[in-house]
Amino acid sequence: MQKNNTDRAEWGSNLGFLLAAVGSAVGLGNIWGFPYKLGKSGGFAFLVVYMILVMTVGVVIMAAELSLGRRTGKGVVGAFASLGKKYTIIGWMGYAAPLLIMGFYSVLAGYCLKYAIGNFQAMFGAPIADSGAFFSGMLQNQGESVLYTLICLGLTLLIVIGGIDKGIERFSKIAMPALFVMMVVVIIRSVTLEGASEGLKFMFVPNPDVLKENSMLGLLSTAGGQMFFSLSLGMGTMVTYGSYLPKKENIVKNAVFISLADTAVAIMAGLAVMPAVFATMAKTGDTSLLKSGPSLLFVSLQTVFYEMGAVGAVFGFIFYALVLIAAITSMVSLVEALCAYFIDRQEQQGKPVTRKKIACMVGAVVAVSGIIVAMDGLGSNGMWVPFHIDCWLDFFDICAENILMPTTAFLIAVSLGWCKNPHDILDEMEADGSTFRYRKAYIFCIRYIVPVVMLMVLVGMLKAIPTMIVK
Ligand code: PHE
Repeated sequence: MQKNNTDRAEWGSNLGFLLAAVGSAVGLGNIWGFPYKLGKSGGFAFLVVYMILVMTVGVVIMAAELSLGRRTGKGVVGAFASLGKKYTIIGWMGYAAPLLIMGFYSVLAGYCLKYAIGNFQAMFGAPIADSGAFFSGMLQNQGESVLYTLICLGLTLLIVIGGIDKGIERFSKIAMPALFVMMVVVIIRSVTLEGASEGLKFMFVPNPDVLKENSMLGLLSTAGGQMFFSLSLGMGTMVTYGSYLPKKENIVKNAVFISLADTAVAIMAGLAVMPAVFATMAKTGDTSLLKSGPSLLFVSLQTVFYEMGAVGAVFGFIFYALVLIAAITSMVSLVEALCAYFIDRQEQQGKPVTRKKIACMVGAVVAVSGIIVAMDGLGSNGMWVPFHIDCWLDFFDICAENILMPTTAFLIAVSLGWCKNPHDILDEMEADGSTFRYRKAYIFCIRYIVPVVMLMVLVGMLKAIPTMIVK
């Protein structure tokens, strides 16, 4: 494995790195995925399985990705190429995933922006009474959807152009504490609504019936898939962020912190969302509000805010602004992972790094897929989609989350655990002068547990694809 170059940009502080990495991890996955899956897949039992997976699989791969990035001083393509020629393909798979994810993430961020503005206006004017109509109106307004998508993408590019310490780190240092405070505000409102306790029960009380219905395999693959997406693994982002990490920082501690912080925010998101949804269901009698994905975020929750009365618009504004921040910090990491390839090439050729030019070029490519997804409006505008898949968003999501992500993660574990000497990665984890006491356990996890879990996730993900196809 080739060693790091010395003049690479670096994080200004470990705290800055942590906030940026947690910013990458905390995103839509935490808000619209985790709370619903937690409740639907067995409550407390799911949480226990999820936590075990975080510690035995998530932390292991995160530490491996960070170490690989720091050791080689390169983004995902360069890092895997440094392992040997045949590993380059893994790097390209890790590169393709952020490209695809950006295609829909920027659109969803745009929707959050639209909702934040809509709720802000509702503070002074008429409330958004029909959330379903508001949502479909937005989806069908192609010009507006494209505009909001491009605004969010432009904002992301501005942050990335600022650089590692002056752009990404500086933004994360403001955005992440703000996100935290806003989330606490929404949680307080949510859990104090009448009927909120049913939502808490849904999420946390172990539900034996659910466990009977779901096989252990299904549970493991749901939890594993959710965890991988939520921790931003197998997509080149952590390799890239690791490549800017100074040698003096402790990788294992950082990996544990990022993983636990992401899980904590996912639970907090559950507290912000589910009690309010259950309270509103009790009030209106409309049980269809319990959903996940875009319809939870943009229909159910908007109904929740409307039902709160006059203050609803204030909480709606805070909530959608919070989700927008979470999405932007994730997009920043995705775009940085895409830019790193070109930055590496310029560094290798001894040329000055033209970050701005690279970011604009990457932005232009991403904008094309973003525009397609925005115009499609989750399939509401009758556009053609490959393989009869429901909508363009699902098409990109299937390619990235269902296929590439588990396959790449599997290959990372096999190549670092079996084909290469795992002690290389472990040595990098100790490069700060610390001693890692769990070497054997780590090697056991990366060789056996991670590949098995990833294969199960892959099978679960492939099985889910037919349900996303219309015909
Ligand atoms: N972790 C982010 C989320 O939970 C998504 C993401 C995946 C971001 C991969 C960056 C890289 O929504």
